Amino acid sequence: MRVSTAQFYLQSSQQMSSKASDVNEQMAYLTSGKRVLTAKDDAVSYGTLAGYKDDLANIEKYKRNITQAESHNSMQEVAFSNAEDILNKIKNEIDPSLAYRRSCAHGVCGSCAMNMDGKNGLACTKPHSEIEGDINIYPLPHLKVKKDLIGDLSGLYKQYESIEPWLKTNTKVETTEILQTKEDRVKLDGAYECIMCACCSTSCPSYWWNGDKYLGPAVLLQAYRWIIDSRDEERETRLKKVADELKLYRCHTILNCTNACPKGLNPAKAIAEIKKMIATANV
Ligand code: SF4
Ligand code: SF4
Ligand code: FES
Repeated sequence: MRVSTAQFYLQSSQQMSSKASDVNEQMAYLTSGKRVLTAKDDAVSYGTLAGYKDDLANIEKYKRNITQAESHNSMQEVAFSNAEDILNKIKNEIDPSLAYRRSCAHGVCGSCAMNMDGKNGLACTKPHSEIEGDINIYPLPHLKVKKDLIGDLSGLYKQYESIEPWLKTNTKVETTEILQTKEDRVKLDGAYECIMCACCSTSCPSYWWNGDKYLGPAVLLQAYRWIIDSRDEERETRLKKVADELKLYRCHTILNCTNACPKGLNPAKAIAEIKKMIATANV
C-alpha cells in the first residue's frame, strides 16, 4: 500500500481552485453593473447566474475541499514519529475505512504487528528514521486477511490456548503468592517478555505451510515459558503435549523467527531447549 496521496490531492486542489475562480470571475462581472442596463439585460444576467446555480451552491464546498486538500498535501512535510502515526493520519484524515489493529502505541500490546517494507514488525516502533520515501505496508504474511491490515489470528490463539498458558499446581494452595528463587526467576528472562504479536510465527516458513498442525515459534516460546517455570507442577505433561512430530519437530532451525522478533527474543533457542529437554527427559 502506498501511503503517499499528495499527488492526488495536489491535482484535485488545482482543479477545484480553477473551478472556483471561474465562478468568482462570472460573479464579479455580473455584479459589476456594467452589463445590467435594461430589463432584457437583467433577464440575461439572471439566466447566466441561474446557469451557474450548481457551481455557486458548491462554492463553499469547493473551498472546504481545497483547504482539506491543501492540508493533506502538507503530509509531505509532516514529520511522523513512526509507521503507526502514518496509518493514524490516513485513517483520521483521508480514509476512515482503513482497518488495522493498534492499542498501546508503545510496543507493549503486540496488536499493531504488520509487514513493513518486507519485514514483520510493530508499526508503533518502526521509527520514521527507518522510512525512506514510500513505505509499503501489508498484513502479516500467510494469514487470511479479515480486512486491510488485519490478519486472522484465531488459529494461533487456539494453539495458544492448547498449551494452557497458566500456572498449574496440584499440591500448592493458591491463597498466597507462590514464591520462587531469584535464580529460578531469571530463567524466565527472554520468555516472559513475549507480547504474542505473531511476527515470528508469520515469518516462519514451516508455519506458513503447516500452520494448522505446527505450533510455531510464538506458541512454542510460550509453552517453554511454562515448562521452565519452577512454580509449575505439570512440566512433564506439558513436555509430552508438545513432543509431537508436527507440533514441535516441524521447526528446522531456519531462525526467521528470531530475526523477526521486535522484542529481541529468541524463540528458535526456546524450541531447541524444548527438544533438548524431551531428548534428555526421555518423555
Ligand atoms: S527456527 Fe523454527 S520456528 Fe523459527 S523460523 Fe525456523 S522453523 Fe520457524
Ligand atoms: S517471540 Fe517475539 S515475535 Fe514472537 S510473538 Fe513473542 S514478541 Fe512477537
Ligand atoms: S500498538 Fe501496541 S505494540 Fe504497537
